[in-house]
Amino acid sequence: MALKVKLSERVYWLGFNDRRKHLFENQWPLEKGVTYNAYLIDDEKTALIDTAEAPFSGELVDWIQELLGEKTLDYLIINHMEPDHSGAIKEVVQAYPNVIIVGNRKTFPILEGFYGITKNLHEVSEGDNLNLGKHTLQFFMIPMVHWPESMVTYDVTDKILFSNDAFGSFGTLNGGVFDDELDLTCFNEEIRRYYSNIVGKYGAQVQKALSKLSGIEIKLIAPSHGLIWRSQIPYIIEKYNNWSTHKGEPGVVVVFGSMYGNTERMADYIARFLIEAGVKNVKVYDSAKTHTSYIINDIWKYKGVIFGSCAYNGGIFPPMAHLMSDLEHYGLRERYLGVFGSASWGGGGVRAITKFADEIKWDLVGESVEARCAPSVSDVERCREIANAMAAKLLDSKQ
Ligand code: FEO
Repeated sequence: MALKVKLSERVYWLGFNDRRKHLFENQWPLEKGVTYNAYLIDDEKTALIDTAEAPFSGELVDWIQELLGEKTLDYLIINHMEPDHSGAIKEVVQAYPNVIIVGNRKTFPILEGFYGITKNLHEVSEGDNLNLGKHTLQFFMIPMVHWPESMVTYDVTDKILFSNDAFGSFGTLNGGVFDDELDLTCFNEEIRRYYSNIVGKYGAQVQKALSKLSGIEIKLIAPSHGLIWRSQIPYIIEKYNNWSTHKGEPGVVVVFGSMYGNTERMADYIARFLIEAGVKNVKVYDSAKTHTSYIINDIWKYKGVIFGSCAYNGGIFPPMAHLMSDLEHYGLRERYLGVFGSASWGGGGVRAITKFADEIKWDLVGESVEARCAPSVSDVERCREIANAMAAKLLDSKQ
């Protein structure tokens, strides 16, 4: 029996909780799982908006058939071709061979590339309408949020925005589907981790999409992953606005790479000194232990960052290099950075972090400290100076 939830009189959420997959896109840990949200509109003409990952194909087709009964599926609307949403297209087309596939100019080459489908295509452009009877759908392009063919579908009749990856989240829906049916505080970390790691690179495009959609009345935002926004629409739009313009909240993320504990000890001193200097939110991560997606999630939230590394073969500790490479790839801006580390026999960690700061154009705060091996009393005092300088910057920027 279909796991369906009504969004309005004729609009259904058909969602799949994936608790088995370990890595999203084969790289992001899914401790809390993920959902694939498809939507069905049962009007005079029927339409399915997006599908699901391939393992859920059979169930999705069963559910559509159960809901539509004798009726056929007239339209399959493809907001996004990434296989986490397009994985069931072939099975849907096999079940409904006359279904018309709705996409834009950039959708169809990818459709053919992945699934060899070239027939029954209906191309739409910016602002085009599709009438289903009672419902009219309108299409808006949101390129690179998060692939070039990405678009959103707006139900003009019920004011529902089918927003594709935008406003989506990691995490399964455990009974609650709408934002007011669940504890949002449990979801916030996974919403931002999804944004920062999946969409974050495309902040400028998110800004364009927000601006484009700002003029339409929205009663529901129905994304392709995670919860449906109903009561907290201004909240999530404000978050997207802040995250896509790289605004950071007061707080500091201290991340270290340490082999024998000396750099880690310096991180602990700095964290304590930050608190003593009045910083309220301090997070400390071991780059070798925590997946970069969680660290980047917090760096996207907080304005202050302090990186430390031991030396490793004359360079930086590899997990720190990995983290910095990811951050450069995403192009996060507007951060303060403090630098510390331990040189042992050759150094290299502090030098690499300083070079990173220059390349990513973060604002260096305080004077870097590099202990020769174990931190001396004077090294610890210099750690305090970095913490104080960071606190001063953050307290300043709060005003
Ligand atoms: Fe959820 Fe970009 O696919």
